Amino acid sequence: MIQGMLRDDALKGKTIIVTGGGTGLGKAMSTYFLTLGANVVITSRKLEVLTKTAAEMESATGGKVLALQCDVRNYDEVEAMMNASIAQFGQVDALLNNAAGNFISPTERLSANAFSTVIDIVLKGSVNCSLALGKYWIANKISGNILNIVTTYAFTGSAYVVPSACAKGGVLAMTRSLAVEWGRHNIRTNAIAPGPFPTKGAWERLLPGEMASKFDFRNRVPLKRVGEHQELANLAAFLVSDFSGYINGEVITIDGGEWLQGAGQFSALEMVTPEMWDGIEKMTRSAK
Ligand code: COA
Repeated sequence: MIQGMLRDDALKGKTIIVTGGGTGLGKAMSTYFLTLGANVVITSRKLEVLTKTAAEMESATGGKVLALQCDVRNYDEVEAMMNASIAQFGQVDALLNNAAGNFISPTERLSANAFSTVIDIVLKGSVNCSLALGKYWIANKISGNILNIVTTYAFTGSAYVVPSACAKGGVLAMTRSLAVEWGRHNIRTNAIAPGPFPTKGAWERLLPGEMASKFDFRNRVPLKRVGEHQELANLAAFLVSDFSGYINGEVITIDGGEWLQGAGQFSALEMVTPEMWDGIEKMTRSAK
């Protein structure tokens, strides 16, 4: 069981908006922010899910949660969500762009609308929220903090999730761009690139049915395990806290080494047994 990393008051007095905060990783990160003293606004399209999660998180942590319905694809809804958050808590200090949409599919099977839908949720949604909060922070001279959840295939691209790869690549470019442009306004912008952290929502869309047992993610990770939600929550809390005050424009990978294992030309040699290495060593030593 992984423990919380920061001291109890590490986020005291901060208000953090977490898009997609009603379920999965968004819920795990929000819960930890509350434990550290933050007020949290959770948003998604499903108010019923949000309201239930908010009550659960409040009773578990004693913190204050505001549940707001918001489709991040629509700027007007984002602005209304931000204004309601300010009205409730007085100020918003940080934005966690966590809401995402994704499913596996050969690209040629996708309709144009399917492709756009993922781009709209992931890229346009993150842009809409960052834009609304950025305008608010700059106009009111408030130090802001944007944390974007991307993925390791934002660097490499990935087959079968092409709309998501395009969108996450865009979010990564936005992270680095805004870090420079808005740094002078005391707005920090960073990203986290998580590897496999199982959640119901993602696993049903990315490893449906028997794929979960046939395609075991643990084998793809040098550490031979998937991530624990608290490990991600620890990193996210650090990045939205003042303890990371000089980190700006960074993307931190938290994947047990997964993407590098996939990238290294000889990484598959982990299949070679010690006995086979004996024979291979003889051959490589005798090569002239
Ligand atoms: N394969 C191919 N096309 C698909 C699809 C699939 N599995 N699922 C949806 N689509 C298509 C739809 O057919 C539609 O295209 P069309 O109008 O040409 O028929 C388009 O995608 C939009 O689907 P719709 O269901 O109307 O959109 P939505 O906004 O309600 O849902 C999704 C968006 C599809 C991304 C949905 O999976 C979702 O809501 N995800 C949110 C949670 C999530 O994905 N989290 C990330 C987990 S990793």
